[in-house]
Amino acid sequence: MVFMDNAGGSQTVRHALDAISDFLIHSDVQLGASYATSVRAADKVQSATAAIQTYLNAAHADEVVLGPSSTALVRILSQCLSQTWQPGDEVVITDVDHETNRSAWLALQQQGIVIKTWQIRPDDMTLHSEDLLPLLTERTRLVCFTHVSNILGSIHPVAEWTQLVHEHGAQVCVDGVAHAPHRLLDVAAWDVDYYYFSTYKTFGPHQAVLYGKRHLLQALPGHNHDFIQSLPYKFQPGNVNYELCCAMGGVVQYLCDLGAGPAAAEINRANLIQAHQWIAEHEAQLLQRLLDYLNTVPAIRIIGLPTADPKRRVATLSLVHDTLSSAAIVQQVDRHHIGIRFGDFYAVELINNLGLRPKQGVVRISLAHYNTMQDVNQLMAALKTVF
Ligand SMILES: Cc1ncc(COP(=O)(O)O)c(C=O)c1O
Repeated sequence: MVFMDNAGGSQTVRHALDAISDFLIHSDVQLGASYATSVRAADKVQSATAAIQTYLNAAHADEVVLGPSSTALVRILSQCLSQTWQPGDEVVITDVDHETNRSAWLALQQQGIVIKTWQIRPDDMTLHSEDLLPLLTERTRLVCFTHVSNILGSIHPVAEWTQLVHEHGAQVCVDGVAHAPHRLLDVAAWDVDYYYFSTYKTFGPHQAVLYGKRHLLQALPGHNHDFIQSLPYKFQPGNVNYELCCAMGGVVQYLCDLGAGPAAAEINRANLIQAHQWIAEHEAQLLQRLLDYLNTVPAIRIIGLPTADPKRRVATLSLVHDTLSSAAIVQQVDRHHIGIRFGDFYAVELINNLGLRPKQGVVRISLAHYNTMQDVNQLMAALKTVF
């Protein structure tokens, strides 16, 4: 099978699988006890958390909050943040975002929080900071936007927008789910307040990570038993999943090995940077080939930037056809044992506002670094039988 539904959920790397079985076979006990196995188990979780900290480029390990999904973590964040707000305070969301970074904030309208929407311009399918400015007032508490659209694939200037929001006295909550599998994470360089990603789309298991600046997390009320006030535990009700935390440590090890060449490389930023340089170049080559073909089919419209420039977009490509529905295209491609997908991908407002609901959403082809030119050639051969 050729797998090109990576933005739905990526394949899990061997390092992650090994970390899960290592934890469960050799240290399947509760953390925090004084016996040796418990101490070893705690060491493993601590090392994995340190690896995630390096991956994020976070200043402190206790800024790494783990949870079952991005959606659950953003709900927790919204519950905690809103306790510090007053009726009439404002939150800005976008119409590009996956519902995760919209619905948790929209639900706060019930307690008098005012929600404003920053909309893309339909002509260039881009969010412009000039359109954000009029939405910012002295009551704005938070601006929520996505780093990369899971439909358009476009990369947003997170550092620039974050600076703009900070200048207006507000904070940002950035959805990094569609960015993390493709480009380097660097919360320090972007100066983001809150940033999250899902590990099952980032070559690991079903789990998610929320980063928050330490002093901001410390100032928030928690979402756990009252007597648990330390970070990150106050935002992690119940136990986190130890083996899946270790698995994400395995993913970071995998990426460092990819960057350094030899196996068992040191976990450091230099190796992660190297890995992501290669990933960006490789994905751009695959995407360029696909775009070159799609541009020869007049009935195809690319939903997003028609470029493979790795600085402007990732290899998540959406399209619609003049006459065929998105469902019909994907069903025909299914027969060739190629996994692509159609729909709104929970970017409900974006699909509605672009008028793509009657098409049954978009056809989304989402590549990852382990896809090959041969995969792309097979997809092109399958598409040629459809168009
Ligand atoms: C861009 C984006 N944000 C958020 C999510 C939600 O992630 P989770 O399933 O971890 O809640 C998804 C899942 O498809 C996504 O693509």
